[in-house]
Amino acid sequence: MTWALVPAAGSGRRFGGDVPKQYLQAAGKPLIEHALAALLSHPGIDGVVVALAADDARWPGWTRLHGKPVVTCIGGGERADSVLAALHALPVDVANDELLLVHDAARPNLRGTDITALIDAAQACADGAILAAPVRDTLKRADAGNRIAGTEPRDGLWRALTPQAFRRDLLLRALEHARSHGLVATDEAMAVERLGLHPVLVEGREDNLKVTTPADLALAEILLANPT
Ligand code: CTP
Ligand code: MG
Repeated sequence: MTWALVPAAGSGRRFGGDVPKQYLQAAGKPLIEHALAALLSHPGIDGVVVALAADDARWPGWTRLHGKPVVTCIGGGERADSVLAALHALPVDVANDELLLVHDAARPNLRGTDITALIDAAQACADGAILAAPVRDTLKRADAGNRIAGTEPRDGLWRALTPQAFRRDLLLRALEHARSHGLVATDEAMAVERLGLHPVLVEGREDNLKVTTPADLALAEILLANPT
């Protein structure tokens, strides 16, 4: 019983418009529908919990997709609060040591091959696993006036993607530990790292992009309309 948790309670204010970014359309469907379809069409995933904003009027009300259950809950003020809420909304028959995948609603271009590689890695590593991509660009540190203060070595640096996969009990312990220590974790792995653990990096496709800007949305449109 591997379930996916999908935080979708963010406002995506950077787009400026009134539509939260997970509901922007690409290739004829909202981004969140692409994300849910990618997860639920994978044979290793048994269902999803979606964390929604309390005032979300756009959620289409799905309770099943691809023949699998879709459960909803109300998310929280930070991403980690939304993931915690989703954890608490899991059905009772999902055991404590089951693997869970956390995936951003705003990441529509996820492929089954990456899900399989992630699940395999997380089953082999007790600390969990995340999809990630090596940093390709040269990294500059800016000073207050946007002049270059220096060049950062990029060796060994990766960009954290989603899904991120952890056992249910570990994920709960990590997020509660982070919350009680005032740590704002921008991904689940960061909360797990604070327990002194070391999730494994699984190299994933670089086109598994998170839509944050209008340029990202244009790119997502091209990728989703022309699957490779
Ligand atoms: N998210 C959430 N609850 C929050 C904040 C974010 O469920 N309180 C979700 C978003 O909906 C998104 C994912 O977490 O699916 C990644 O968050 P992020 O990229 O930061 O998205 P937003 O907060 O929506 O947008 P932004 O910060 O870019 O304005
Ligand atoms: Mg945000």
